[in-house]
Amino acid sequence: MSNKTKIPPAPLTCYDNLEGTLSYTWSLLARGVKDRKSAFHTPTVATNGADNTPQLRTVVLRGCDVEQQRLRFHTDKRSAKVLELGKNPTAAIHCYDASLKVQLRLGVELKLIDGSGFDEAWTATRPMSRECYQVTTSPGSTIDNPYDALFDSDATQNGKINFAPIAAEVKTIEWLYLAAKGHRRAYFDLTQTPVIMKWLVP
Ligand SMILES: Cc1cc2nc3c(=O)[nH]c(=O)nc-3n(C[C@H](O)[C@H](O)[C@H](O)COP(=O)(O)O)c2cc1C
Repeated sequence: MSNKTKIPPAPLTCYDNLEGTLSYTWSLLARGVKDRKSAFHTPTVATNGADNTPQLRTVVLRGCDVEQQRLRFHTDKRSAKVLELGKNPTAAIHCYDASLKVQLRLGVELKLIDGSGFDEAWTATRPMSRECYQVTTSPGSTIDNPYDALFDSDATQNGKINFAPIAAEVKTIEWLYLAAKGHRRAYFDLTQTPVIMKWLVP
């Protein structure tokens, strides 16, 4: 899909329709993986910090498996977020697309991906993306001078030893659509079969 492809406005079929809203939500997330101009390409991930404070950061959305209800992003295994998810995997993901006027708040559980999933994710990374995993000291470490951050491709196996693909299993979705003719807010609990879907007061 071309990066120039414009995301269409929320189709009317989803305006008053919970099933339509849910499937449109997944289509926005799936498109966010491929379309670098989409707001869904760079969601914010919230974890619970070591001092019990919320910790937010932007990541690039690397995968969206609609069938498995799972998203994927990549990070450095030494980063704070990986330590945090080890202690408490319950996290949240937020995105807002100002052109679509759609906000998504996802309740997720984060998991490190290993085995064949790890290999597939690593193989798909570009040389430029690998570079950041080649830094020899942990991201977030204090340094006296910015030039003290050293990169070593040999010592880090091209960055592979620090690479951490993370799965975000989507448990709940809260949809908010700001429309002049009336806002729409909906909640989906994907942990239940069938999925619980309900409208909320915007
Ligand atoms: C546009 C943008 C995209 C980013 N993408 C990623 C990413 O995919 N993975 C990542 O670990 N950090 C990414 N970052 C950096 C994070 O926001 C954050 O600063 C870093 O991961 C350290 O977070 P932590 O200390 O909470 O672990 C991105 C930042 C920006 C501004």
